[in-house]
Amino acid sequence: MPEPVTRRIFADAAALNQAAAHLLTTLAQAAVAEYGRFSIALSGGGTPTGVYQRWAQPPFREAMPWRHTHLLWGDERLVPPDDAGSNYRQIADLLLPHVPIPPENVHRAKGELTMTAAVADYTQQLQAFAGGTAVPILDVVLLGLGSDGHTASLFPGSPVAQVDWVVGVTAEYDGRPAQRLSLTPTVINQARHVIFLVTGASKAATLQNVLDGPHQPEQLPAQRIQPAHGTLTWLLDVAAAQNLTP
Ligand code: 6PG
Repeated sequence: MPEPVTRRIFADAAALNQAAAHLLTTLAQAAVAEYGRFSIALSGGGTPTGVYQRWAQPPFREAMPWRHTHLLWGDERLVPPDDAGSNYRQIADLLLPHVPIPPENVHRAKGELTMTAAVADYTQQLQAFAGGTAVPILDVVLLGLGSDGHTASLFPGSPVAQVDWVVGVTAEYDGRPAQRLSLTPTVINQARHVIFLVTGASKAATLQNVLDGPHQPEQLPAQRIQPAHGTLTWLLDVAAAQNLTP
């Protein structure tokens, strides 16, 4: 039976970043205490940058079991890892220099490959990480929401494969690299905890449609995210949440 969905609304970005860093740290500590490692698929985009920065500062920096933390990505743009548009690059800049994550625990999608090769490589990395062919169960998948209703790189009109774990996607959004790969709902919905971060008035109408509107997953791919067994948490600021029914 799926866990209930939680919505938490914060007055500003600082409060949201603090709460998100605290939640990630708490989930990491619990995972490592229970089975020795913590895995998280990270999000790109502008919204989580403050969370990543806060997570790398005291007291979370010291409290996090970084040596047992494995980083993956919910999506990646098909650009080299040192490109400004790379989601890996964002973490290489904001997090990796500040925390002792072993390099072998960083499972990046290889945006420098062709789409077909990158999808195959990332799928293999997920298989290796999960230790077999069963769908990997990640501890946390962190997600954002686009103003067009996309999440990760699952855009309106993107292929929706039931069996694939990773899909290649071409989508124009906000001047960002259009060639991408994405985890599918097949993987995301197996996670123990899915956390959306959504901020700003420009997301308010889309967020209202995703959360409180009719089920239209073709137009609003974020509605495909429904954890089968895990928790679903929406961390919002007041501007993004202004249209929601209390
Ligand atoms: C990406 C992201 C993507 C992002 C949304 C929201 O790689 O582009 O993973 O899904 O979360 O586009 O982006 P903002 O946070 O910048 O609004």
